[in-house]
Amino acid sequence: MSRRNFSQSVSRQISRPIPRRAFLASASALAFVALLPEAALAKVGGFSQPVAIPPLDEGRLDGTVRVFDLAMQPGETEFFPGLKTKTAGINASYLGPALHFRKGEDVRVHVTNKTRDVTTLHWHGFNIPARADGGPHQMIRPGETWSPEFKVLEEASTMWAHSHTMGKTAEQVWSGLAQMVVISDEGDAGLPANYGTDDFPVVLQDRRFYRDGSMPYEASRHDLMAGMQGNIPLVNGTVQPYLDVTTKLVRLRVLNGANASIYNLGFDDNRLFHQVASDGGLLAAPVPTKGLRLAPGERAELVVSLRPGERTVLQSRGLSGGSMPMMEQSPAFDFLELRAAATLADTADLPATLATPPLPDAAEASQTRHFLLEMPGMGMGMVRNMMGGGGFTINGDEMDMDRIDFEVSKGATEIWEIENAGPMMHPFHVHNTQFRILDRNGAAPEPHEAGRKDTVLVEAGETVRIAVRFDHYADPERPYMYHCHILEHEDAGMMGQFTVV
Ligand code: C2O
Ligand code: CU
Ligand code: CU
Repeated sequence: MSRRNFSQSVSRQISRPIPRRAFLASASALAFVALLPEAALAKVGGFSQPVAIPPLDEGRLDGTVRVFDLAMQPGETEFFPGLKTKTAGINASYLGPALHFRKGEDVRVHVTNKTRDVTTLHWHGFNIPARADGGPHQMIRPGETWSPEFKVLEEASTMWAHSHTMGKTAEQVWSGLAQMVVISDEGDAGLPANYGTDDFPVVLQDRRFYRDGSMPYEASRHDLMAGMQGNIPLVNGTVQPYLDVTTKLVRLRVLNGANASIYNLGFDDNRLFHQVASDGGLLAAPVPTKGLRLAPGERAELVVSLRPGERTVLQSRGLSGGSMPMMEQSPAFDFLELRAAATLADTADLPATLATPPLPDAAEASQTRHFLLEMPGMGMGMVRNMMGGGGFTINGDEMDMDRIDFEVSKGATEIWEIENAGPMMHPFHVHNTQFRILDRNGAAPEPHEAGRKDTVLVEAGETVRIAVRFDHYADPERPYMYHCHILEHEDAGMMGQFTVV
């Protein structure tokens, strides 16, 4: 098993060919490593910090409604011992508690904006009334409280909530305004389900730290184009983290909460593990694998089996995919060391089958829509992008809050065909639904992509077809979003709006 210390792993991360614009930031990273006081560096060397496990917020019951009180707030976080970093969080200085919802119950969330900017809080992955979606139209001004109420219609799954402010999503999520949502259902299919004991949240991100400990959102022109990537990997906001494992099987609820990085996950000893859930809930059966690709916005639940005393490192191995070598979309990172105790408690065996994921049926589709994703090329898009962002389009249009792109009938099944004509990969996300991937360039999805999805990575030159249906809510006024989940692309226009009527 490979062991790298902190500075080796950082220099490995930045030894890749570095595009010119990003070089400045990476040079700062070198300076950071070189100039950090020795004592502080020693303290962060290796996998030396226990990974933060955000508290599970159960809310409080008001009759039959489960009520949560959330404050989106500025804060200071000590990622590196002795260095304070300006951040933001939800009931925390960075990120927030994992909210625990139960399938079928009603929840009400009071979200107070204690930051200095307008913000929003979007329920990513939920079938939800448009007024409660938390997209760009549900703005919360500084000092205000927004109180959406909705029924939890989802299957047992790992969801999340994050800022979705028009033009500012990238900056606000970067600062820390995001949190996990765990949805449970009776029995949980017999998988490990003791939060914090054998069932763990694993929020993967990367951030660009300078030697004073700061991680400002300073996106260069290259960052706006490629998406903002960091020099330091974080798990639940912890740098160089380890997780003490005390059971034979552990369930990892992995969320790619990065602005732009696509993670190509696996373990450093190339061990076999199982993926048990995709974005919207359990797969039909555990899928044995040695690696999986996870794009921003996507979730995967993994079950890993450990032997007493052993250690293994969850890492992103990097990935080639886009056809533009300048835009390296998938960095290599060592994320998290799992450390098994000398004796491990028994857990139930991994079930052979898990669930029958409810999915739309393409045979019922009443129409097909086409979505062409384009990024700035050599023409007007490039000019617009150079003049301050923009130039990222869907079907030729940049996002406009005042334009509804189309209407969908409630309950109708549709086929959406997403074509990526450009040189980068784009994770395409749709609000208010869990969809079925029909095919990628005509090829049926692999088993781990055959379950419920709300975000799908579309490779350069690829066309992905999905079957989508909006069953529950209609609202002729308030739209839902569909967009690229590379947050810089979303903010630069690669987003559109539809209503369900
Ligand atoms: Cu996770 Cu529209 O976003
Ligand atoms: Cu969403
Ligand atoms: Cu994109």
